[in-house]
Amino acid sequence: MARNRDPDGFEKLLSIMEELHEVKDLDTVLDAILLQARRLTAAEAGSIYLVGDQGLHFSFLHNDRLFSSTRTKFIYTSHTLPLDNRSIAGYVAGSGQGLVVDDVYQIPRSRPYSFNRFFDDASGYRTKSLLALPLKTSGGKVVGVLQIINPRGQDGEVIPFTDLDHLILGYFANNAAAAVERAQLTREVILRMIKMCKLRDPEETGPHVNRVGAYAAEIYHQWALNRGVSEGNIKKTRDLIRIAAMLHDLGKIAISDLILKKPGGLERDEFAVMKYHTVYGARLFENPVSDLDAMSGEIALNHHERWDGGGYPGQIADIFADPVEFGPGKQGEEIPLTARVVALADVYDALVSKRVYKESFSEEEALAHIREETGRQFDPEVVAAFLAVHEVILAIRSKYQEDPNQPLYCRIVP
Ligand SMILES: [Fe+2]
Ligand SMILES: [Fe+2]
Repeated sequence: MARNRDPDGFEKLLSIMEELHEVKDLDTVLDAILLQARRLTAAEAGSIYLVGDQGLHFSFLHNDRLFSSTRTKFIYTSHTLPLDNRSIAGYVAGSGQGLVVDDVYQIPRSRPYSFNRFFDDASGYRTKSLLALPLKTSGGKVVGVLQIINPRGQDGEVIPFTDLDHLILGYFANNAAAAVERAQLTREVILRMIKMCKLRDPEETGPHVNRVGAYAAEIYHQWALNRGVSEGNIKKTRDLIRIAAMLHDLGKIAISDLILKKPGGLERDEFAVMKYHTVYGARLFENPVSDLDAMSGEIALNHHERWDGGGYPGQIADIFADPVEFGPGKQGEEIPLTARVVALADVYDALVSKRVYKESFSEEEALAHIREETGRQFDPEVVAAFLAVHEVILAIRSKYQEDPNQPLYCRIVP
């Protein structure tokens, strides 16, 4: 059966796999896996579930027919399936075997699994042929399930998957699993660092930094599209900023508890000490050979600069000088773009979150504040990008919510 397969698909397979291993962030890995799996089979849609504590977590989604790009609020949907035989993904994860279904609405009742129509019913989409594969590492551990949907023939009709598709994607999925496992480990290590920081600073929670990382990736992406940045450069920067933005306040680890945990506002001299978290953060990431470290350091140092030049720490000749002298505030495009993006993402999240010393702003109040500060605290182009993706920002907020059962922080008893 003829189909619109990528003509160089097979030749590209090896280089695709190499590329996968260069990607650092989990979302970018999932996006790349789905894109390449779909290209190899000319399939128009797909999704990935990852194995987590509670079951199979819906983690990524593509659908060319429904969304013009992969940047949709639906990729931040939270939805979990139990790890049992009743769903296709659960069956595949449990058995460790791939599954090809020609029509998901015609699955015989004798099978333990059935098709979950939830997404089709909600979106009006019609899933027909489906290829589901376990993402299994070389150690035999299933980290997730890849589902590819509706390959299209040359006349645009939905056609079934072939044995060859199953074979090629099976090989691809094994490599993809290794990339997923590595990206999960990276995110895990970062979240552990954040946890360490949270023991000191109750505001730096896992959900807060995950939100700031995801907001920053989406705001940057929109800004770059508005500016006509090439697809390759967007992908690379987006991959790094998703992680680097999470580490914006890591320098707080070097600030005294007396200041970090002081209830109420800080005195002038205490605030002057607090400002040094920017420099301490930049020192932590001083490593000229890693792009990720360079970006993390740049964000840590500059995320409190203001577009109008009224921020801190300003121009600094040597971040390792002792003592470090703060210079005049950086202004406009002197502030690195990544830091201009994170400044907005971080402030927005702080505004709409409840903190020990303040109630949260409503969404309207937060947006009004951001509009008022456009051209003052914030870069107008970054604000425009933020407003353009506001729907996605809200979806991120609901995906990464604070755990109400977790205490804000453990008091260290002397
Ligand atoms: Fe900060
Ligand atoms: Fe923060």
